[in-house]
Amino acid sequence: MCGIVAATARREVSAILLEGLRRLEYRGYDSAGLALIDSDHNLLLHKRQGKVAELEQAQAMDPKYGCVGIAHTRWATHGAPSAANAHPHISGERVAVVHNGIIENNEALRAELQAAGYEFLSGTDTEVIVHLLHQQLQSSQSLLQAMQTVVERLEGAYALAAIDVAHPDEVIATREGSPLVIGVGIGENFLASDALALRQVTDRFIYLEEGDLVRMTASSLQIYDANGNRIERTISQLAAHEEATGLGDYEHYMLKEIYEQPRALAATVPATGAHDIADEAFGTGAAAVFDRVQAVQIVACGTSFHAGMVARYWLEELAGIPCAVEVASEFRYRKRVQHPGTLLVTVSQSGETADTLAALRNATEAEFISSLVISNVDHSSLVRESDLVFLTRAGAEIGVASTKAFTTQLVAFLMLTLVLGRRRNLSPEAASAMVSALHKLPDYVEQTLKLDPLIKDMASAFILRHHALFLGRGIQYPIALEGALKLKEISYIHAEAYPAGELKHGPLALVDADMPVVAVAPGDELMEKLKSNIEEVRSRGAELYVFADENAGFLDDPRVHVLRMPHCPELLKPIVYTVALQLLAYHVAVQKGTDVDKPRNLAKSVTVE
Ligand code: G6P
Repeated sequence: MCGIVAATARREVSAILLEGLRRLEYRGYDSAGLALIDSDHNLLLHKRQGKVAELEQAQAMDPKYGCVGIAHTRWATHGAPSAANAHPHISGERVAVVHNGIIENNEALRAELQAAGYEFLSGTDTEVIVHLLHQQLQSSQSLLQAMQTVVERLEGAYALAAIDVAHPDEVIATREGSPLVIGVGIGENFLASDALALRQVTDRFIYLEEGDLVRMTASSLQIYDANGNRIERTISQLAAHEEATGLGDYEHYMLKEIYEQPRALAATVPATGAHDIADEAFGTGAAAVFDRVQAVQIVACGTSFHAGMVARYWLEELAGIPCAVEVASEFRYRKRVQHPGTLLVTVSQSGETADTLAALRNATEAEFISSLVISNVDHSSLVRESDLVFLTRAGAEIGVASTKAFTTQLVAFLMLTLVLGRRRNLSPEAASAMVSALHKLPDYVEQTLKLDPLIKDMASAFILRHHALFLGRGIQYPIALEGALKLKEISYIHAEAYPAGELKHGPLALVDADMPVVAVAPGDELMEKLKSNIEEVRSRGAELYVFADENAGFLDDPRVHVLRMPHCPELLKPIVYTVALQLLAYHVAVQKGTDVDKPRNLAKSVTVE
C-alpha cells in the first residue's frame, strides 16, 4: 500500500527520498511523487503515474534539489491511478502533503473547502488535508499548530507528512491508524512508513504511537502524544544484519525468500530445549495465560489466514483445544459469542494489516482472556498492542506473495500447539517428537528445494491455461488453498481450491481437458479417498499434477504427473508441501512474464480496510 518517505538535512535529499521510495516499492503502488523546498524557499514537485523508475527519470531530465522534502508511492483508493492523483498534493503553491490511509469525511470537507474558494485538482481524499492545512496556516502561529488543528477535523486512518515554504526547515508528521517511523540521523532526521526505507541512512529508529505529532528539523525532534503533551519516545537500534534486503544472485525476491526458508524455519524454533518449547517463547506472562486457555480464536487475512486454518487441525487434534478461525474483515463486524477462556490469536506478517488490527482493537476483555500475535515485524502495531507476542524469524519479506512468513507462522503454531497441548492430552513423548521433527524441518525443506527443476518443467503446462483447480483433504485442504492463492496472485491464472470431498458438489462440472488439477496428496490416512477423487477427475480428461509422498504408490501415466516429495513426518507435511506449491506458482509466473514480486493491483501491507 502507500509509502511515505521524508527528510530534513543539511545535505541535498532528493536521492535519499528516491532510494527510500524504491525500497518501499514492494508494498505495492501505482504512482509516485516527491516535493522539495529549495534554497530559495520554492516548492518543487515531480509526480508520475507508474513506477519509481519513471519518477527517477523525471528527476534526471529536470533535476529538483532541496534539503527538506517529502515523497510518496500511492496505491489508489479514492481516484484512479494518475499523475494528478499521485502525492504530494499542494495548496497555494506553498504547502505539500503526503498521506497513507483513508479520510472518511473527505466529501463533507471537500464541499466546505470548495465553498471557501479552494480549487481541487485531484479526485483524492488527501487533497482536503492540504487545503485545510493551507487554510489553517492563515491564522496559526506554526505549521505544527496548524496540523494539530487539522487532524482534529479528520475522520479515518492516516499517516501524514507535510512541508511549507514559510517553515522551510521542517517536516511535520502525524499518525492515526497507519504506521510511521522516524529515522534518527546525525544532524539530519528522516521519516518513513517502514524502517526498511531508511536503512541506507540510519540504524536508529523511533516507532511512533497512535496520535503522535512530530516536528522534525535537521537538528531537532519534537514529539507530542495524542493529548498534546511533549514526550520522549525510545530510540531502537537495529543490528547490522537486520533487514538485509539485497537480491543477491536471485532473479526475484520471491525465489530468494522461498530458498531462505530452511534458515528462516531454523531461526524461528528457539535454540533452547532439544525436547521442549518454553512458554516464554510467547512472551513474559505466557505461562499464566496458557494455564487458563480453554479455546482459541484465530483471526487473520490472506496467507496468514491460511496459516490459521492449518493451525486449527493441530490445535484440535493434538492439543484437544476447540479452535475457530476467521478472516479479520468478517470477524471485526459481526456479533460474536466466544467460549469462556478463549485466547485471541492474530496472525500477521506485517503486523499492520488494517482489518486484523481492527479485530484486535474491538475484541473485548469480556470475550477473551488475552491476546497473542504471531508476527514477523517487531515494533509493528499488532506487536505493540497484543498481550503476548511470538515473533517469527523469517527476516524481511519483500515479495508481495508471502512465502517464508507463512511457513514460519506454521512453525509458530506447532509450538503453540505444543505448549497448550502439554497442559491437556499431549504426552511428553509426543511433545518431544514434535520438537525433534521441528529441528529436522529445514532438512526436509532443503530436499524439497532440490525438486525445483522438476517443478519448473511441470509449470510450463500451466502457462496457457486460464483456470486451475487445487484439491486437498484434511490439513492439506488449507495448503491447497494457499497453493491456489499463490498461483492466482502472481500468475493471474484463476485458481480455486476445494476440499477433495466437495468435488462432486460443484467443481466437477468445470473439469475437462482445459482444467489442470493439482492434488496435494501426501499419503496420510485419507489417501484412499483422495485417490478416488483423483480418478473422478482423470476420467473427465483433465491433466493431473499430484504432489505425493515418494512412498504413496502413485504411478505416472500420460495424464497423471506425479511429483515425488521427500518422505517426512506427518506433522511437517503441510509446511514441506507448501514449498513445492510456492515453486510451482513462481515458475508459472516467470514463464508467463508477470511482475512476480509486485503483482498488479496487490499490496504487501494492506493498511486500509
Ligand atoms: C496482503 C499480502 C498477503 C498477506 C496479507 C495479510 O494481501 O499481499 O501476502 O498474506 O496481506 O498480510 P499480513 O501482513 O497481515 O500477514
